[in-house]
Amino acid sequence: MEKEVLLNDGVKIPAVGLGVFLIPNDGSTYKAVSEALKAGYRHIDTAAAYFNEEEVGRAIKDSGLKREEIFVTSKLWVQDFGYEHAKWGIEESLRKLDLGYIDLYLLHQPYGDVLGAWKALEEYKEKGLLRSIGVSNMTPKIYKKYVPEFRIKPSVNQVECNPTFLQKELRSAMEKDNVRIEAWYPLGHGDNNLLDNETVIRLSEKYGKNVGQIILRFEVQEGFIVLPKSTNPERIKGNIDIFDFELTEDEMKEMEKLDTGKGTHDPDAPGVGESLLSRYKIHNKW
Ligand code: A2P
Repeated sequence: MEKEVLLNDGVKIPAVGLGVFLIPNDGSTYKAVSEALKAGYRHIDTAAAYFNEEEVGRAIKDSGLKREEIFVTSKLWVQDFGYEHAKWGIEESLRKLDLGYIDLYLLHQPYGDVLGAWKALEEYKEKGLLRSIGVSNMTPKIYKKYVPEFRIKPSVNQVECNPTFLQKELRSAMEKDNVRIEAWYPLGHGDNNLLDNETVIRLSEKYGKNVGQIILRFEVQEGFIVLPKSTNPERIKGNIDIFDFELTEDEMKEMEKLDTGKGTHDPDAPGVGESLLSRYKIHNKW
C-alpha cells in the first residue's frame, strides 16, 4: 500500500497527516509540528481559522527538510468568502505560512459565497501558488448544489469520516469526479464504541498493532486520506506506522459493518452557516 495518494489533478498527498486544530500559536504549534516532522510526518493540516499558520510555516522552514518533501494544507475561512475577499484571504495564508506556495487549499466550510471564493482558488491554482484545491464539510446535498458549477473540480472533500460513518452516499456522489475523502475524526474522536469494538480489538491482537492503527489502516485501504489527532507521543508516532501490514478483503468487509451512516456533525442542519459566520471572526478587515 502506497503512503501517498494520487489526487485527480496529478498532485500526490501523503495518506496520513497531522492536524493542528486547537493547538495555540504560542510555541506549542511550532513544537508539535517540529516533533511530528522528526517522527516522519510529511503532511500538516492547518487553517486560517486555527490561528497557527505562522508557526506551522516556521517549524517547516527550521526542519532542515526540503520544501517539496512536505505537504501543507490550509483553509479559507467563511469570513473571507466571495471572490475579492477570498483573494485577500489566500494572500494572508501565503504570507503567514511563508513557504512560497501551499500544497492544498480548502474552502473550510460550505456557506456564503462559495462560488466566488472557489473562483479565487481556481485562479491561484492556475498561478501555481496553490498546487491543489478542495472543499470541506460538503454533504451530498451541498456537493450537488455547488460542484457542478465549478470549472475545476475539487481534489478532496475533508469531512467527518470513520468506520462508524463511512460516507457512502457522499462517496457515490463524488465518484465520477474522482474526489477523495479526507477524514477528520478518523478515530471517531475517541468514541469507545469504535475503539473498544470487538472486531477492532481482534484485528489489533492479530496484527500486533494498537486499535487506532487498525482503524487508520482500514481507512487508508478504503482510499481515504486521514488526519488522526493524539496528544500522546507514542501514539503520534504509531499513527503513521501503518504501512507494514494489510487487512484482508474479509476483514475490510467486517470493518465496513460498523457503519451506522451517521456522524456527530450535520452540515445540512439549519443555521449552521449563519452561526459559524457570526461566531468566528478571525480578523477585523470586514
Ligand atoms: P490520545 O490523545 O490520548 O492519543 P480523532 O482523531 O478521531 O479526533 O480521535 C482522537 C482521539 O483518539 C483522542 O482521544 C486520542 O487520544 C485517541 N487516539 C489517537 N491515536 C490513537 C491510537 N493510535 N489508538 C487509540 N486511540 C487513539
